[in-house]
Amino acid sequence: MTVKPYQNEPVIDWTAPERSAELKKAIAQVRSQFGKTYPLVIDGQAITTDKVLPSVNPAKHEEVVGNVSQATKDDIDRAIEAASRAFETWSQTSFEERAMYLFKAAQVMRHRKAELMAWQILESGKNWAEADGDVNEAIDFLEFYARNAIELDKGVELNPWPGEDNRLMYIPLGVGVVIPPWNFPLAILTGTVVSALVTGNTVLLKPSPLSSVMAAKFVEIMQELQLPAGVLNFVPGDPAEIGDYMTGHPDVRFISFTGSKAVGLHIDEVAHRRSDKQRWIKRVVAEMGGKDGSVVDETADLDWAAAEIVAAAFGFQGQKCSAGSRAIIHEAVYDQLVAKIVERASKLTVGKAEENPSVGPVIDPKAFNKISQYIEIGKGEGRLVLGGETDDSTGYFVQPTIFVDVDPKARIMQEEIFGPVLGICKVSSFEEGVRVYNDTEYGLTGAVFSRRRDRLEFARRHMHCGNLYFNRRCTGSLVGVQPFGGFDMSGTDAKAGSKDYLLNFVQAKAVTDRF
Ligand code: SER
Repeated sequence: MTVKPYQNEPVIDWTAPERSAELKKAIAQVRSQFGKTYPLVIDGQAITTDKVLPSVNPAKHEEVVGNVSQATKDDIDRAIEAASRAFETWSQTSFEERAMYLFKAAQVMRHRKAELMAWQILESGKNWAEADGDVNEAIDFLEFYARNAIELDKGVELNPWPGEDNRLMYIPLGVGVVIPPWNFPLAILTGTVVSALVTGNTVLLKPSPLSSVMAAKFVEIMQELQLPAGVLNFVPGDPAEIGDYMTGHPDVRFISFTGSKAVGLHIDEVAHRRSDKQRWIKRVVAEMGGKDGSVVDETADLDWAAAEIVAAAFGFQGQKCSAGSRAIIHEAVYDQLVAKIVERASKLTVGKAEENPSVGPVIDPKAFNKISQYIEIGKGEGRLVLGGETDDSTGYFVQPTIFVDVDPKARIMQEEIFGPVLGICKVSSFEEGVRVYNDTEYGLTGAVFSRRRDRLEFARRHMHCGNLYFNRRCTGSLVGVQPFGGFDMSGTDAKAGSKDYLLNFVQAKAVTDRF
């Protein structure tokens, strides 16, 4: 198969008049489909259950985006049986054949981009640029992993040995449970599902209840491409009812999870409690939270640093594991930079995502309450200089909020808030800034703003995070460009969007043929 070299999907400016009209039309069309019920898909069969869960527009309480069928334990049993049966043949298809589904899915998503964006604008509260980025990343994962799979098929070059033909090949693991998050509702879902599929595994996909309509749309696309029955099973459901049952099931070989630290650690524990019927040690890939931030020294371009810090803190309402929720600033430029950050952040607009504000709604009442509580905690830990107001009368809106003069050990500087809240602290040297940055249990993304090469090199060696950026924001990694994943309580550092990522879903077999 000949494929052109991989390229990231280009960003589109949806505010240009023609594009904006196209997107508004897509939003209206998607809205006209609101309230539909989406089925489970098990063994290629669509199953609508009596029990459904509504997925609601976070900007408008009364708008039910869709109702999603809910799997029971019996459904999970059926899905695991179907996936195990499908594995027999799917695992024996070639990497290239499997990669074709990914190339085709990428093409479908490209054609349906405005519509896919519209679903997440209305279901997840992403503004236009964030929704564009999400669909682009989904397409990138498809294009990138398809190419990686074709490469993986070549195996590894081994040292020649006289009288022997030695080869190393990669074979799939088995049936996997994929649990993606709501905050990159198409991108991370697509990346985690298709990396497992293209390597020959079969999957049970349990989406977040908060973005399950977007997940159902992804499954529709894969069904339209006629993925063989049982290869991808769609099993939304109540985590309390089916979560542990799925991840603890003896016939499940691996779990790929992206979400909070608490849930990730729980899954890790359940998955590694081996049952007697189980014939393997389960593999767990877990991408969890972050308490990311920027270190700024006295030589930095302060206007640029302010712009990037604001973008990293408040993009998608701060609901990214990569969000820069801390700014650690050298005392010589502290007052000046704080003023610039506050000035910029005060210009951010807050509103319904479909109107394309800078900051949309937060995802649900639970998030709204958690963020509101952290704002109250922050009032006792620092000086509130911007925002602090919340409003859940029509949707879940939180004003961009900034606390200054916060102690690095304060809760708002240590705990993941997952909302539009930025904590700022002062340090008296660059090295102290790096120490403060490192002093959390996480290690996902970090940024340094400095004009001094020696300091950047110091940070390269000493800042403990999976994704470190110099003189730019700490969000917005690109597939194939900035492999993504973090250390410590941020997860297993699986590095999504890297060539190594597919190795998480295969095992290597060495075959020696003596002649
Ligand atoms: N990869 C995303 C980012 O870098 C987070 O998942 O912002």
